[in-house]
Order: sequence, then structure tokens, then C-alpha cells
Amino acid sequence: RGLSSPALSSPCPGGPPAFSFDIDGVLIRGKHVLPEALEAVKKLTTADGRWRYPVVFMTNGGGVCEERKAAQLSGWLGVQVAPSQVILAHTPMRDLAPQLAAAPVLVSGRGDVLAVARRYGLGRALHTRQLGRAMPAATPFSAYPPPAPKAEAAEAAVAAPAAAGPGVGAGVGPVPASAASAAPPGPAAAPAAGPGPEPNITAAAAAAQFAEPCPVVHQGLATEQAPIHTVLVMTDPDDWYRDAQLICDVLSGGGVPARSPAAAAAAGAAPVRLVFSNPDLLWANEFPKNRFGQGAFAHMVLSLYSRLTGGGRPPHVTFYGKPNPQPYRLAERLLLAQARELGLELPEAPPGALPFSAIYGVGDNPAADVRGANQAGAPWVSVLVRTGVFQGPGPNCDIDTARIAVDDVAAGVEAALHHT
Ligand code: G3P
Ligand code: MG
Repeated sequence: RGLSSPALSSPCPGGPPAFSFDIDGVLIRGKHVLPEALEAVKKLTTADGRWRYPVVFMTNGGGVCEERKAAQLSGWLGVQVAPSQVILAHTPMRDLAPQLAAAPVLVSGRGDVLAVARRYGLGRALHTRQLGRAMPAATPFSAYPPPAPKAEAAEAAVAAPAAAGPGVGAGVGPVPASAASAAPPGPAAAPAAGPGPEPNITAAAAAAQFAEPCPVVHQGLATEQAPIHTVLVMTDPDDWYRDAQLICDVLSGGGVPARSPAAAAAAGAAPVRLVFSNPDLLWANEFPKNRFGQGAFAHMVLSLYSRLTGGGRPPHVTFYGKPNPQPYRLAERLLLAQARELGLELPEAPPGALPFSAIYGVGDNPAADVRGANQAGAPWVSVLVRTGVFQGPGPNCDIDTARIAVDDVAAGVEAALHHT
């Protein structure tokens, strides 16, 4: 279980505390920074604005690269946040890159997830909007720009480097030069007016993606030579209908560049893998009632797939994102590195244990943040705030499991700094 496990990592009493802050419903509500967030930061920084303890920001949101989210958090909170302090829903997917770098991967999600995937090293990623545009009859209720006039299309083809040679097959070609060296995704996204979910990519960025050749499709028909290997839902989709339709097509095979589970078995290939980055059924923005999150989209896809296949479930479905362990193991690595960079006095900890008196996991969603910290085991301590999803005991929202329950993030930091 990575660096820490309940058996090994009992809290190190002499160690420093560390903090992991959720974002939506804890630091911001929709487009508003919560005033208690600024108070909490003050308690955790020195007079000249340096962090006193290791701190990460762990969100089930995303759609941008870690550098851009760090810059946003620095602006919202008035303190320097480094990219290595940011864990987005899709950040742990970076570990998949070595095995997926050469495979056609279909990515779904708002924001500039295609550029993020390419920066993670997924050189043959294509976005659902590109697949939809290449075969518009597959999603008749979604809107696509008209095909570029021949000349423009020829120009676009020239702009994208030729396939890397005979070994490439008809899979999604190498990353177009423009994309490979893409600056951190962010300029392509509409400038975020302030806090809140990442705006979708700008029309210009979408147009550039539509102009890229989609080599897994030829004249609206799938080419089977390099079928899609994995589907990564990196953030909440920008078109639930289009993505539910295309993901179900890819998972069940036929008509799109993907093999059905049976055809994959017959070809001795693995069935398509489906990975969701965030299981949140609900999340909190400025609307008074909680909103559907990516977990609701996952429910939609899996129940449609079940209806399509007479009760079947895709052979490989994985969920990342809180409360699952991947972000917690990554947070432990990042917090330990920060403790060393800060030069903190770290006690001798048993091998594999973490030298912290506690890692306070502060969040607003019992089903994600409280359950995740509790499941992560010592030295994690769950801290539930009442400024987001949690609106009182009830299904999916039981306060009893939180180790510490407070009104807001400033009270949570206060409680943690006096917690024994
Ligand atoms: O889309 C983001 C939402 O699901 C929750 O975000 O920051 O509360 O983990 P957060
Ligand atoms: Mg939250």
C-alpha cells in the first residue's frame, strides 16, 4: 500500500502535522473563495508567506494541468502554491503513461484534458469530440463544425506530422508537433473568471482539435488496425450524451474503432479498459443543492451499458479519485518530500511509516473526503466541514465517521493544530 499502511504507520507523536485540503466546498463554493479559506492559510504560513507544514490540495476536479491549478490556487489564497502540492482527479493517471504511451486512448472530459493527457505522455490520445466529429452519424444530437473545406483540411494534414512510419498502423498518429510541445493547458481554456470548475476549452482550441486528423476513422468509418485500448474519463464531460454514446460504442465494439469483448478475446487482445477519475455522485457549487458529479455520469454509462448488453458490465472498470487509495498514496509521497524541503525535524519512523503526527484530510463530502481519509488509515485523520456537500446527517452524509467535524476549514485547521 505505498508508503504507509494502517499496520505500520501509527502516528509519529513527535512528528509534524501535515494537511490535505479538498477544494470545492472547502476553499471555494462555485465562483467564490470562502473567507475561512484565507483564515486557514494564515494559520499555516509564516509572516513572510512560507508554509509552516506540508500541505497538498487534493480535488476530484481537474481539466487543467497541475501548474495551472497551482497558479489559480496561489491567486485565490494569496500564498505560493507549487504544482507539486496539487493532486487533481487525473493526476494519478500519470502512472499509467508508461503502459499506455503507444496505445490509442480515448479521453473524455471538459477543460483541456487532451493536452493534459499528451503532457502525461499519452502520445496517441484522442478526445471524444474528435471521434464524434470524425463520425458525426454516431452522435446525431451533438453539434460539430462543418468539415473543413478540402484546402483547409489538406493544410491541417500538412500541419500534423506524417505517421511515424510503418509500425504506426492506422492508430492515432504521433502527437502533432503543436500539441506535443503544448504549453501547460490553460491558455487553451477560457480564462477562468475566478474559482469554480474549469471552463471548457475555448472555441479556438476545440477547432484546432477538430482540425487534427483522426486516423482511427476513415471517411466516417472505423479503421480496425489500431483499436482503442483504454477510455480515460478525466473530468466531468462537456457533452454527456456524446460521451455516453461513444464510450458505450467503444466498450461494446462495432461501428467504432474498438473490439467488443468477444472480438478482443478472439484476437487474443485485452478488452477495452474504462477508467473514471472521480466517483463523486454529488459536489457543491454556489447552488443551494448539491450537483451531479462525474459519479453520476459513470452511473449513466454503466446502466446504459447494462441495458445494451442484457445486464452486462464492462470487463475492466476502475475508479480513481477520492475515496480510492491512489490520490492518498500520492499525497503521502508529496507531503514527505515537502517535509524534507521545509527542513522539518522528522522523527525516526518504522520502515515504510510516515513521520507525521497526523495527516489531516479536510473535506466537505463524507462519501469522498471522510471515507477516503478513514480508509487511507493512520496517520490520516478525517476532518469534515459543513460548507459544502455535507448538509446534515442523511444518506451518503453520515457525520459520525468523521474523526473531527467542524463548521469550516479555518475551524478545522484550529482543531488540528490543537489535536492530540
Ligand atoms: O468536479 C469536482 C467535484 O466532483 C468535487 O471536487 O474539490 O470537492 O473534490 P472536490
Ligand atoms: Mg469537496
